[in-house]
Amino acid sequence: MEQLFLVPILVFLHAEISPASTAGEQLISAQLSVNPSYRQYYEGDNIDLICTAKINKPVKGYRFFNESKAVIHEMDLDGFGNGWLPVKVQKEKAGKYSCGYWTGEIDKEVRSPQSNIITLQVTEAPKKPSLTLNHTLPQYKWGDSVNLVCSAPNETKDIKEFQYYGDRQTIQAISVDLVTDTYNLNIIEPKDTGNFMCAYIQLISGRNVRSEKSDPVFIDPAGVREE
Ligand SMILES: *[C@@H]1O[C@H](CO)[C@@H](O)[C@H](O)[C@H]1NC(C)=O
Ligand SMILES: *[C@@H]1O[C@H](CO)[C@@H](O)[C@H](O)[C@H]1NC(C)=O
Ligand SMILES: *[C@@H]1O[C@H](CO)[C@@H](O)[C@H](O)[C@H]1NC(C)=O
Repeated sequence: MEQLFLVPILVFLHAEISPASTAGEQLISAQLSVNPSYRQYYEGDNIDLICTAKINKPVKGYRFFNESKAVIHEMDLDGFGNGWLPVKVQKEKAGKYSCGYWTGEIDKEVRSPQSNIITLQVTEAPKKPSLTLNHTLPQYKWGDSVNLVCSAPNETKDIKEFQYYGDRQTIQAISVDLVTDTYNLNIIEPKDTGNFMCAYIQLISGRNVRSEKSDPVFIDPAGVREE
């Protein structure tokens, strides 16, 4: 019995909270999601906020809003598909997000009601490792090799991988369950010189989290001389 009365009341409430629309047109709320979806994000994570208009007519564009409902990103579309906002996670990006879409012409834009809200919880990335060269030479020759030694803090558990970042190359090294990794770099071409940094990938709550990057070490390209 009660349900019969409840339905008309909900319809009435929905009409009340929707923004005024022209020509009697009513849009349904967009849906906001985040990919990948985790309970907790770490500084340095790369994620996408994805806004979906569940209507079967063209969307003019999407807008993303922050906690204070300010537009932080606008994306023109004029077609079918999702809106998205790539986010490089940092402490300042923590907070609540929502989105919406609009249809119609510029002078009579029809806006959807605001989407669901997504809250990004952001934590600092695991502490940076230290990177050293073993052994540092005053000058390198083409054909020399040097060890990049990347050490995570002693107590770090569940390290899956180490990564080395040169100015012109990235190297991945599967970890053998130690807090220190050694990568043997053969200096044979320009990409083997310049600044190198490293980081480790740690398994935390079922997902891979990348640590902060180490301070750089420098392999002086000017120091590399022909034999
Ligand atoms: C939302 O964005 C506006 C404009 O960029 C900014 O002024 C405001 O501080 C932001 N609010 C929050 C809660 O981040
Ligand atoms: C540095 O190199 C020396 C000689 O090859 C080696 O004995 C030592 O274990 C290395 N240190 C690290 C931290 O890899
Ligand atoms: C980490 O362990 C190594 C070897 O056991 C030790 O020499 C070093 O002092 C330790 N570092 C810290 C920060 O505890």
